[in-house]
Amino acid sequence: METQTDFLILGSGIAGLSFAIKAAELGTVVVVTKKGKFESNTNYAQGGIAAVQDEEDSFASHIQDTLNCGADLCKEEVVRFVVEEGPERIKELVQWGVEFTRDKSGGNSRYDLGREGGHSRRRVLHAKDLTGREIERALNEHVSRKKTVHIYENFIAIDLIMASFVTGGQNKSANRCIGAYVFDFHNNRVHTFKAKYVILATGGCGKVYLVTTNPDIATGDGIAMAYRAGAQIANMEFIQFHPTCLYHPDAKAFLISEAVRGEGAILKLKSGETFMERYHPMKSLAPRDVVAKAIDTELKKSGDDYVLLDISHKDRDFVISRFPNIYEKCLLYGIDMARDPIPVVPAAHYLCGGVLINEHGETSIDRLFALGEVACSGLHGANRLASNSLLEAIVFAHRAFLRIQKDFEQIRDEDIPIPPWDPRGATESDESIVVAHNWDEIRLCMWHYVGIVRSDKRLERADRRIDLISREIDDYYRNFVITRDLLELRNIATVAAIIVRSARMRKESRGLHFNIDFPERGDVHWRRDTIMAK
Ligand code: FAD
Ligand code: SIN
Repeated sequence: METQTDFLILGSGIAGLSFAIKAAELGTVVVVTKKGKFESNTNYAQGGIAAVQDEEDSFASHIQDTLNCGADLCKEEVVRFVVEEGPERIKELVQWGVEFTRDKSGGNSRYDLGREGGHSRRRVLHAKDLTGREIERALNEHVSRKKTVHIYENFIAIDLIMASFVTGGQNKSANRCIGAYVFDFHNNRVHTFKAKYVILATGGCGKVYLVTTNPDIATGDGIAMAYRAGAQIANMEFIQFHPTCLYHPDAKAFLISEAVRGEGAILKLKSGETFMERYHPMKSLAPRDVVAKAIDTELKKSGDDYVLLDISHKDRDFVISRFPNIYEKCLLYGIDMARDPIPVVPAAHYLCGGVLINEHGETSIDRLFALGEVACSGLHGANRLASNSLLEAIVFAHRAFLRIQKDFEQIRDEDIPIPPWDPRGATESDESIVVAHNWDEIRLCMWHYVGIVRSDKRLERADRRIDLISREIDDYYRNFVITRDLLELRNIATVAAIIVRSARMRKESRGLHFNIDFPERGDVHWRRDTIMAK
């Protein structure tokens, strides 16, 4: 089955939906999303969105905090426009129905602003500790009123379609993306979507790691698809580990927001001793890379399984009303956070690298845009400042819209016939154990060898193993019918390989990439992106 549209958007998080709302003014929009339309990293965002709101805050201060965190690798121009355009985009979210928590003490006339690691001021707008859920609610409601937008749920994009696949790379439009093959896994059918513009908004890749704060959708599909299509991919070695994920044998990936530390929670060892003063003057509120590495060091030293996060010295009513979601979740596991310290460990959280884009969200492939976590815009450099990613997504969605609006009228449908999906005579697999086994093996390998602290030897080992597993998966992919699990496995293998190779290329330690064989930050030669292309 083939569907033609002006815009094909892959993903229904903040990046995909905010772009869809705007694109609906120009033409027809298809959003495909691989689970329910709410399911995304966005939906789980807790802390909030950083943007200058307070008279005592300034763009200069937000810019400086972002640059400090990014360890000399941010693109300063990008940081400047993202920070400066932030307040306008926040107003737009509010117009679309997002309700941020207001400051009761100021008579509700202002927003309540949270604070997180690396920020020198309070500037994080939030909806209690359920910011992402509130954003997804409002955006989905708003988009549902747009007659030209059609959302396909439970559809997983398999691969981008390039004009060169069809024309054999013979004409000048060969480097153009013209659509995608998408698998409707409930009905076991592959659809062809043909589009004037394709927007990757598929989010991050936390599931490449064994321990992650990310939901199951975060398998790096967009990065893997863009890589296979020939796009440039940048800075994949910079994986952000969040310092405080709930540690409990029955809890699956539950984040304890940095905003809890922003309100005064203190990190302690199991013995009750504090330790962050030995690592950074901002102590428990130091930037994430510093805190995650400090916890990792302390755990390796003590042999303990977790450290503690303690906010029990704060007023109980305040804790419960500021963090209702975290409070309830902890209580489910027998932890009353207003009374007891919370056991926490670091976990893979955010991808600073991704598909390389320019200031308009354009990738190195014509008419293929990348927005949100899937993209590498230069905002985060070697380490993202907390709550800057929701901001990045809305700023770039707007910029991409402006870029496209400029010449949308001139773009005509091209009559390039797309061949239907070729199942290559594949048969049903009788060995799904191969998928399950390789899934576990990749994630364990990445956790042990390509984690917070790396070494040349570990990276080399990881490279060898991932390469072997990838060949096995490719073979399996060629021979058996596709399933959602197989597609995701193929993608995490591709993304894992790119992360490992990028990490091997950077012979220094900077921001989130720490290699014990090169423990210092390198000279000016290393102040550059790590770029890979197939
Ligand atoms: P996502 O919101 O992840 O959306 C990706 C979409 O793509 C999903 O709909 C998914 O189903 C779909 N998709 C993926 N692959 C395919 C495919 N092959 N085919 C079709 N659809 C596909 N950032 C902040 O700034 N502030 C915070 O407070 C904050 N808290 C966080 C808390 C948690 C627990 C997590 C995990 C992240 C947090 N982040 C936070 C990071 C932030 O939430 C994400 O970076 C941001 O939401 C990414 O938005 P996105 O639209 O790019 O991707
Ligand atoms: C958090 O609430 O700690 C997450 C914030 C972020 O990842 O930006």
